[in-house]
Amino acid sequence: MNKIITIDGPSASGKTSVAKLVAGRLGVPYISSGLLYRAVALMCLLENASTEEIEGRLGKYRLELRPTPESNHIYLDGRDVTESLHSLEVDSAVSAVAQQPKVRGYVNAVLRRIPGPFVIDGRDMGSTVFPQAEHKFYLTASPEVRAQRRVPERDAAYDTVLSEILRRDEADKEQSAPARDAVLLDTSHLDLDGVVRAVLGHIDR
Ligand code: C5P
Repeated sequence: MNKIITIDGPSASGKTSVAKLVAGRLGVPYISSGLLYRAVALMCLLENASTEEIEGRLGKYRLELRPTPESNHIYLDGRDVTESLHSLEVDSAVSAVAQQPKVRGYVNAVLRRIPGPFVIDGRDMGSTVFPQAEHKFYLTASPEVRAQRRVPERDAAYDTVLSEILRRDEADKEQSAPARDAVLLDTSHLDLDGVVRAVLGHIDR
């Protein structure tokens, strides 16, 4: 099978954990599109470049995504930078970077070169990048629930994390509309296992 399954949703909606577990159950790779946008944000920070300037410098770095069964590793010119991609600095910079049309074209081209099958998470995987995907899901949850889930992953207080989530929802809203044919799942009152079971149930149907 060379199926593509897309799992989109706002930040901290649980899409990454769900996509990893679904991929594991199906025995196919998991791909995070957000990591590529985070890598471009890291390039801006490393170069001290503005979001507009980085558009002209995308060719300067060799950017690679290598999937492992549990996660993805991102290499910039052969250096594994995965550990640096989830800082609050990258969180703050990434939405502006991801709004640049050339950056979106660049990331989408990297993604479309990856051979299926895989489960991929992001914002616009089902709506724009892989409209032909076999199964599409869109996860939502209230901002408060998402902030509670994210606090343990960030060295920051609940209020800081919540305001960062609200800011990013606003900044990302253009590319975050669900695909018209996506299955919408509100995960506010479901645990991880419940969401994974719901997704696998739709795929089996
Ligand atoms: O999924 P994650 O939170 O790691 O994504 C980081 C950022 O990358 C998002 O806030 C968004 O700005 C951008 N992004 C995007 N389109 C995607 C995936 C991520 O614009 N498909």
